[in-house]
Amino acid sequence: MGASGRMDTLSRRGFLQGGIAAAVASASQVGAKAAPARRLPYGAAVALPDLRSDPRLAEAIAANCNLVVPVSELKWSDLRPTRQQFAFEGADAIAEFAKANGLVMRGHTLVWYAALPDWTKDIDSEAAAEGELRRHIETVVARYRGQIRSWDVVNEVIPDVVRSDRDRRPSLWSRWLGDRYIPLAYRIAAEVDPQAQLVLNEYDVEFATDESRAKRGALRDLAVRLKDGGAPLHAIGLQCHLRGGLPIDRDGLTRFVADMRDIGLKCLVTELDVIDQKLPADEDQRDRLIASQVREVLTAVTAPGPLDALVTWGLSDRYSWIQYAAPRPDHRPNRPLPLDWEFRRKPFMNVVEDFVGREH
Ligand code: XIL
Repeated sequence: MGASGRMDTLSRRGFLQGGIAAAVASASQVGAKAAPARRLPYGAAVALPDLRSDPRLAEAIAANCNLVVPVSELKWSDLRPTRQQFAFEGADAIAEFAKANGLVMRGHTLVWYAALPDWTKDIDSEAAAEGELRRHIETVVARYRGQIRSWDVVNEVIPDVVRSDRDRRPSLWSRWLGDRYIPLAYRIAAEVDPQAQLVLNEYDVEFATDESRAKRGALRDLAVRLKDGGAPLHAIGLQCHLRGGLPIDRDGLTRFVADMRDIGLKCLVTELDVIDQKLPADEDQRDRLIASQVREVLTAVTAPGPLDALVTWGLSDRYSWIQYAAPRPDHRPNRPLPLDWEFRRKPFMNVVEDFVGREH
């Protein structure tokens, strides 16, 4: 299939629900620098201070990615210094970088229990909570309408210990609004940008553990309820922060993705990396184990059909959150991502390319 044939397929597949694949196809036509042609959009999360301080990072993203996601520049903590203010400088700078390099941008995240600024503690009634949630979503989604084609609307609403499929994580939002803040957030986002792909993003649903199985059950329950209730939910985001050495539930994960597709949802891998805290010290051995775990999870989630996008939570090991979140007991540098500390390719990148298609 030629480049234009590929574009047609991507457009047809993605346009109705604002799929990110279609957005990538059109962005790569208008970008100052042509983004790599891929079967499947591939991108990385990036933090503005890293992008500004190390030109190698910008180069690596332009060379390897056709989409970017700000690590924290679209979180409440960054966007909302006070109750009155919106501070868009950081997110705008990443948006500019994306535009200049023909990259599509994903948005992360409109509603989360974490990264809330202190002033949100002053929210003290149902009306205030609904008002703040609405104003935030309306303002942020409107600002990036047309550029951010895919949003993690609600992030991490399933608790780590799930006792029933109905369990949801307590948060500021649930405290005042109960569970209804979840469909509400989707409705508001869709009102402001009917073209955007609206995603429900979750972690720790990939493993062959009781906890992971229970989280999958609750996530499935939530997705089904949202769809049954008519909420404009379009896709499931599987974060895929893999724990090195913890087995993937291949069958369970494939079944989960198939179930989601059956109710009309696309699937994205949104934050892939491998936490190598417990893996062997030897770097080659560690890199091989990491690559094979990545292959395993991608094989499982693509078995029912193609992903809509694949995103790693960073690109180079040098700029991974894992060095702070899960340092190794032997103090050796972590290696959770496709490129190493010097931006050299690792086996992880070969696996990514097997799934997204090589640059031509
Ligand atoms: C992480 C960032 O990478 C860190 O820099 C920050 O300190 C905490 O948040 N799941 C998510 C992301 O949805 O927002 C998190 O990002 C990683 C886990």
